[in-house]
Amino acid sequence: MQIIWSSKEMQDTAEQLRSGGKRIGVVPTMGFLHQGHLSLIGLARRESDVVVTTIFVNPAQFGEGEDFERYPRNFDRDRELAEGAGTDILFAPDAMEMYPEGHATFVNVEGVSTTLEGAFRPGHFMGVATIVLKLLNITKPHVAVFGQKDAQQVFVVQKMVTDLNLDVRIHVAPIVREEDGLALSSRNVYLQPDERPRATALYRSLRHAETQIHDGERSVVKLKKEMFDIIAQAGPVQVDYIAFLEPSRFRETASVEPPSLLITLAARYGTTRLIDNILIPVS
Ligand code: PAJ
Repeated sequence: MQIIWSSKEMQDTAEQLRSGGKRIGVVPTMGFLHQGHLSLIGLARRESDVVVTTIFVNPAQFGEGEDFERYPRNFDRDRELAEGAGTDILFAPDAMEMYPEGHATFVNVEGVSTTLEGAFRPGHFMGVATIVLKLLNITKPHVAVFGQKDAQQVFVVQKMVTDLNLDVRIHVAPIVREEDGLALSSRNVYLQPDERPRATALYRSLRHAETQIHDGERSVVKLKKEMFDIIAQAGPVQVDYIAFLEPSRFRETASVEPPSLLITLAARYGTTRLIDNILIPVS
């Protein structure tokens, strides 16, 4: 596995690979890799000749008072995991490389960037869209793999790709979970021993809604209340939102309608903020 720190070197390498007829797949990450990230690398491996994994903890997507400083980092471990999962090139720039003095251009995907995660984290999606566009321009991939775990991020990135005519295919990978259902996240390491079991209620609440909808329940109000109760009954928690969305538009809906429904949620256990979601087919 080759490690590249410089944008220029990465761009030149990508250009050479492309002119040699190689298909490039990229997996953007903020590091502290877990099985979720590794599944994305595995997918990229199957869909391309050369897999580029990027590691960059992007300051622009963290708000004031968020966890940028304490975000977990372990480059040596990441390097081994990325290589083991099939990465050919690890692109790991530093902050000065990505945002040199005077950087002044930001990408704003309007509308979707200000709801739900965007409402709780103002500016977050501008930071995400900007860094993703930069990473795509630097790694020049044919396919870029993102996780369904961050459903709103997928929508923002896909919208940017469409609106700005980017010549890349976005592949969305399913959510990888612990055995007890908790979605893998680099932030799970923040959970205190008493919070960790409580957090399993998030996925239980999503599965409850899925079962109820499968059995014919159509009341969004009732389902939201039941989900909230499941989460609250597990112990102290701050639920930021539970949202029922039309997946194709990422708009909140007051009814459960075919062909599918996306339920997303965010909750805080102490200082740890977790998100999760489920895509439910509706007939
Ligand atoms: P990060 O949180 O490191 O996640 C990198 C990618 O891994 C994202 O596409 C995310 O959705 C995916 N992922 C995380 N947990 C997952 C899980 N349990 N199952 C499947 N996929 C999972 O998302 C970011 O970084 C950043 O916002 C980034 C896109 C790199 C831009 O800075």
